[in-house]
Order: sequence, then C-alpha cells, then structure tokens
Amino acid sequence: QFELSLRPQRLVQYIGQDKVKENLKIFIEAAKLRQESLDHVLLYGPPGLGKTTLAVVIANEMNVNVKMTSGPAIERPGDLAAILSSLEAGDVLFIDEIHRLPRAIEEVLYSAMEDFCLDIVVGKGPEARSIRLELPPFTLVGATTRAGALSAPLRDRFGVLARLEYYDEQSLAEIVIRSGELFGVALNEQAAYEIARRARGTPRIANRLLKRVRDYAQVLADGVVSHNLAKQALELLQVDPRGLDHIDHKLMQSMIERFGGGPVGLDALAASIGEERITIEDVYEPFLLQIGFIQRTPRGRIATNLCYDHFGYPPAQKE
Ligand code: ADE
Repeated sequence: QFELSLRPQRLVQYIGQDKVKENLKIFIEAAKLRQESLDHVLLYGPPGLGKTTLAVVIANEMNVNVKMTSGPAIERPGDLAAILSSLEAGDVLFIDEIHRLPRAIEEVLYSAMEDFCLDIVVGKGPEARSIRLELPPFTLVGATTRAGALSAPLRDRFGVLARLEYYDEQSLAEIVIRSGELFGVALNEQAAYEIARRARGTPRIANRLLKRVRDYAQVLADGVVSHNLAKQALELLQVDPRGLDHIDHKLMQSMIERFGGGPVGLDALAASIGEERITIEDVYEPFLLQIGFIQRTPRGRIATNLCYDHFGYPPAQKE
C-alpha cells in the first residue's frame, strides 16, 4: 500500500480509467444538482487498480466524509449498525472486499441500502426485540476483486457498477512521473516508461517499483534515475521485461514442466507451487490471462505458445 499522500484527491488528478471517470463525473454532477446522495457504487476488478483511491475521490467530489471498513472487519450486525449510525447525510461508506461480508450482515445491509433504515435485534431470549434505526441517506461504495462472488441481491442494489481495467503503459508512465515528482525523485521519461512496462498494468506495482528503483538510485547513482539505472534495478528486483515476477515465473514454469502446459486445475497448480488457490486466482492469473499467457478451458488452465516463447521453450504442439 502506497502512502495516502500519493493518492489523487480529485477526479481531474486521477490518471487512466477514462470510461469509469467519465461516467462517475456525470453521476456525481447529477446527484449534486438534485442535492441527493450519490447512488451506491460497486467498484470491481483486480487488486491495485485504485478502488480505494476512487472511493476517496468520489467523497471529495461530493464534498462529504468517507468512512472506511472491509467485509471481514464487520463480524456482527452491531458492527455494521455502529458504522452506519455514525454517518452524516450524504457520506460515503467504503467497504473493501465486500464479497467477504458475512451472509447475515449482507441481509442487514439490504434495507440500509434500499430504505436507509436498519432493523436490528437487541437482547436475548424472551426479552429480544427488533428496533428500527433510521439512517441518513448515504452512498455505499463497495469494492471487490470478484463481482461474481457477490450474491445477486447485493449486487442488484448498486446503482452504479464500475469495472476497473488494467492501465496501459502511457497511463502508468504518467502515474510514475507524477509519483516521482511527489517523492522528489529525478526521473527521465524513458525510465518512467521502463517502470510502467514492468508494472503489470497496476499503479500499486508501478509505485512500489518506483520506490525500489529510487533506493538503487540513491545508493548507486546519486539519486538520479536514468533509463539504464532503471533497467538495472528492475533486473536486480527480478522483475522481467513483461513485469512478471518470481511467482509468475514459478507458476508458468510449473505449468509447463510439471503439467505439460496443461490443462491443469487451479488446485493442483496452487499445491505445486505452495501458494493459495485464491491468491493465484485473484492476483496472478488475471494479468497472465490478460496478456495471453494463460487460457481458461473447461478442463483447466493451459499455457499458450506466447508463454512458451517468453520463457524460452519451443512452442507446445497443442495450439
Ligand atoms: N497513483 C496511483 N494511482 C493513480 C491514478 N490512477 N492516478 C493518479 N495517481 C495515481
């Protein structure tokens, strides 16, 4: 997680995700014209693409406060009631990893989202009764890496569904240059593009690489990040020219060498490299799918010829 100070505060400072920005800009303006709270927003897509940042930007654009929590942090209905009853009219409630909200809480959330009220049970046994809490209108911004993991009734209660995409090289280079300025790192354009190319479409990774490259620059080159220094540093960091790291390599090499390029199931693959299935599914696989190194088939994952080529193997025969 990069520092809060690096994050853009306003829509105009937010680089990339043009479609999402364009739409949000209109919905925000319309809500403000009507003096209403913004409709609930679901942000989904791979990790590190700026979902949290966007929630803060939305709150800033609406001139309201933002409260942050996450699905796994809300264990009991009372936890949710405490957060919801602390909101002021129009505030943004950001729930990260909303797909990990316990089912019982999800159901409490439905009426909160729809009618801005909360029915909670207090007391035990014969004393137990339900009390209704009126809530101010608020905007729920939910974030998830997997929209499919959300129950349909919850998903349907979001008025705005925004899918974040991997960033292109140009946008990432702009982000690196912007972050470089904020850090006070002297960075030329070629160096910024070198970092951008190896950031797997992900600002969080770009900013992390920038910080590590800055370390090399400070120790080895008086703080100046030239193109050569960036390349050298990224090689030392074991980030290859496509941005694949040590775990991507392990994953692809296991697929090729142990499973003959697949098809192989996710569980077998996860076991073979000692990672969790969910980590592969949410963090590693989406980018490998995006660049066409992996394909999903009904019988499992397969490594493509593009992937064989990248790792220096002769093409597989299957394609
Ligand atoms: N830093 C991280 N992500 C960013 C983005 N999308 N725009 C500007 N700066 C960022």
